Amino acid sequence: MVKAYIHDNDSSVDFREDHDTGKPVSLEKLEQIGLIYRKFDTQEEVDQFAQDRDYKNRDIVNITVNSFPDEETMISKLNVFYAEHLHEDEEIRYCLDGEGFFDVRDPFTEEWIRCRVQKGDLLVLPAGIYHRFTLTSDNYIKALRLFKEEPKWLAYNRPDADDNRYRQEYLTQVGL
Ligand code: LAC
Ligand code: NI
Repeated sequence: MVKAYIHDNDSSVDFREDHDTGKPVSLEKLEQIGLIYRKFDTQEEVDQFAQDRDYKNRDIVNITVNSFPDEETMISKLNVFYAEHLHEDEEIRYCLDGEGFFDVRDPFTEEWIRCRVQKGDLLVLPAGIYHRFTLTSDNYIKALRLFKEEPKWLAYNRPDADDNRYRQEYLTQVGL
């Protein structure tokens, strides 16, 4: 079960720490902002889910200290992941091992909602949702990334993406 809570916005503390305000966020709230959560124990369930949603592509990422030549390179990559951004396609993230934080911006309150994903947790990020990603203090995640179309890997950062068509559509979809 994914653990979701309001992020404390304390930038004096490393972003891989919990940053837990102690205010939980419900699955209903996640749904309200367009996020879908599922827990799947087998690859078959994930494949079926992706097939039903017409996903065509996937890759596996392994992010850990050993994936980088040195600590500095790792931190600079994590800084890129941690910049608030959106994608123009819906994307699935499925945690195969380890854990990570997906922070999603609540478009109603502007609060960061932090989702701790662990093995078996699957998140569907709608196109246009502002989010960011980081490791936890364990410094390790293995994740399956699924794409509807060709993996483009284009991230559009805030605030430039505020005018993006997919951002506007996302806001309309959640009722804003
Ligand atoms: C993602 C993170 C890296 O979209 O933003 O997977
Ligand atoms: Ni992203």
